[in-house]
Amino acid sequence: MNFTPPKGTDDIFPPTSRAWRRTLIIWENLAERYGYDLVMGPIFESTDVFARGVGESTEVVQKQMYTFEDKGGRSLTLRPEGTASVVRAFLGSGVQGEMKLAYSGPMFRYERPQAGRRRQFYQTGVEYLATAAPDADAEVIEIGYRFLEELGFPAVEVALNSIGDAACRPAYVEALRIYLNEKRELLCDESLATLETNPLRVLDCKVCAPHLIDSPKAVDYLCGECASHFASIRERLDGVGVPYRLEPRLVRGLDYYTRTAFEYIATGFDAAQNAVGGGGRYDGLAETLGGPAVPGVGLAMGIDRILLAAGQTGADIAPLDLFVVVASPELRERAAGFLSDLRRAGVRADMTPDQRSVKAQFRAANRRKATGAAIIGDEWNSSRVVVRNLTTSIQELISVEEVAEWAKNNR
Ligand code: HAM
Repeated sequence: MNFTPPKGTDDIFPPTSRAWRRTLIIWENLAERYGYDLVMGPIFESTDVFARGVGESTEVVQKQMYTFEDKGGRSLTLRPEGTASVVRAFLGSGVQGEMKLAYSGPMFRYERPQAGRRRQFYQTGVEYLATAAPDADAEVIEIGYRFLEELGFPAVEVALNSIGDAACRPAYVEALRIYLNEKRELLCDESLATLETNPLRVLDCKVCAPHLIDSPKAVDYLCGECASHFASIRERLDGVGVPYRLEPRLVRGLDYYTRTAFEYIATGFDAAQNAVGGGGRYDGLAETLGGPAVPGVGLAMGIDRILLAAGQTGADIAPLDLFVVVASPELRERAAGFLSDLRRAGVRADMTPDQRSVKAQFRAANRRKATGAAIIGDEWNSSRVVVRNLTTSIQELISVEEVAEWAKNNR
């Protein structure tokens, strides 16, 4: 038996898992403050949801989906992203009118694994549904920025673009196709293959993009409505103090985008995978799935990449406030009751699962990085315990009732 996890997946242990937990709590609080309520859906969907929603010509659908047949002969796919699923759920709910939804969870893509590019990875996202207003785009972009800000993320740039809509994009795509055909000798095999079906994808190719810096820009082809939508977003972002960089060649790897496209780039992160989040508007997605026209805009943040780029291990958080050390076996039962009281009083407390020598219990306390210890000994009979600050080794004798307060102050 091989004990390593499947290729491209990770076992996340403490202290790294602690950084994850803290990150997710920050995300949930933030999303709630901005008025997004949690939606929870299945981790697998009918393959159609992604094949149609994300787009047949995308790399995700062509190469990266975990698709399988269930025992009833249905073709199912582990979700490679959240947006198509959330829109499918919204259409199924029959709800009319705006809805602001937040979600988190693992996503699955059969990628070539490397740092920050995993086969199972974790996204947190929001979708603002049934509105075409530019204020919604600006709000979504702001949330991702504030999230990174609250995490104390070192250096981030918001790259912003508008790729137009069904009215104006065809002219841009045509101009791009002509340009790319003139540059054929510079393109990799994969880009040559997608050039006719999806020229936008070529701009997303890491190999070819550096040769295409003078390609036509989508913003130069925007129709009046798309241009004014884009201008409003920029105005609103300026108003709320979210900096951004216009990135005329930013295209996204999923086909459902219209108008707004953006990414959060970790500038100090020396890796090919430096987009820690991204999103955009997808006004045609609901119709692609066979529903009525429901505009929407959203984002997803990549938690694996965020933590990797921030270099966070969670080691800065003290895991335990107090370790309960039991001097002799006959005091164990009382110590267990005391431990339970402490935990209910909000103290992060623990003790060894079985009776060991006092020395071994202190070793366990150090391993768990407890900041304090309470020693349950003979003093218990007069309702007192010895507490020890494990950093300074200073001890004092205090009453049992005072221990919870002492432990919290000792954090
Ligand atoms: P995406 O750009 O494909 O967009 O993914 C969003 C973020 O998820 C990326 O910026 C990255 O941080 C992370 N991510 C993607 N693939 C991987 C991977 N293989 N390993 C690690 N992290 C990864 C979407 O998924 C859209 N659904 C976003 C959206 C929401 N658009 C509108 N609403």
